Amino acid sequence: MSYIKIPKEWEIPENQVTSESDYINRRKFIRDLGLASAGALLFSTSNACAQNKGVEKQLEPYRAQKLDAENNPNFTVNRQMTDEVVAATYNNYYEFTTSKSGVWKEVKQFKTRPWEIKISGLVEKPMTLDVDDLIKQMPLEERIYRFRCVEAWAMVVPWIGFPMKALLEKVQPTADAKYVRMLTFLDSEVAPQQRNLRYPWPYYEGLTLAEAMNDLTILTVGIYGHILPPQHGAPIRLIVPWKYGFKSIKSIVSIELISQKPRTFWNTLAPREYDFEANVNPNVPHPRWSQANERMIGTGERLPTRIYNGYGSSVAHLYQ
Ligand code: MTE
Repeated sequence: MSYIKIPKEWEIPENQVTSESDYINRRKFIRDLGLASAGALLFSTSNACAQNKGVEKQLEPYRAQKLDAENNPNFTVNRQMTDEVVAATYNNYYEFTTSKSGVWKEVKQFKTRPWEIKISGLVEKPMTLDVDDLIKQMPLEERIYRFRCVEAWAMVVPWIGFPMKALLEKVQPTADAKYVRMLTFLDSEVAPQQRNLRYPWPYYEGLTLAEAMNDLTILTVGIYGHILPPQHGAPIRLIVPWKYGFKSIKSIVSIELISQKPRTFWNTLAPREYDFEANVNPNVPHPRWSQANERMIGTGERLPTRIYNGYGSSVAHLYQ
């Protein structure tokens, strides 16, 4: 047996990932803005300050609830970490609004505790668990992942969670279980867009059982060292880093093991644009835009898209 660790293609030492505090650098921020006029610069900086103040306040109660989770050095990336405020003010959460910069304001009344999650279907031991009890039982760790939205923006964030596999092993899927189907909550009193019947609410997603059991697939309960704020899908969401972000369903209430391939929210809405697999692939353009490059939120940097979002050595075998 060899004791030499061969790093996977996305791994670099943790100390090479730029910390959040290094990244919040006013001079760089100004340079990145690239604005010619000092007046326009002052105006937009003060707008950004006002927005930052608002979101800092909104984040306060979540930041106060730290999670005891060690960083797993096997999962890090050679890209700059996205600033927490940038990630918390650029979200997709269609239940609340279709405006990415407006989600954090719309989720203020969204109560994510107490919260139950049901695991059912083709399993030996179905269970319904309070999310905080589940968190206590699970081996929490922090992983820095690349995250790539189908809309060609990307970020790098430190998620805290546990492998989905650990939960599935608890409920013991039967031999007939081939897929996992997940659902988001349904409550139009809380999430006003759920009254918009153009969309087939509640949001639903699915994975093959093999994808769900892959070590990269995590159920996520925290970000940047603390519990998830609602805009990121509190109290528990999926993260599958080699797939487009729409697969990473937020605020999950149900996980069901089934034998047939499930429908998914975006595939039902636009089957030509969003397929079940949704693996990140620079060579397959979206029908309306190229997927060859991606834009890092916060810096605007454009980078080439990587096949399977750079995680091919762990997942390519699933598709052969
Ligand atoms: N989950 C639910 N329930 N509703 C949503 O609108 N949007 C998806 C995914 N999960 C979405 C969801 C999309 S399109 C993306 S890109 C990511 O959440 C965004 O996650 P973030 O806001 O934490 O960056």
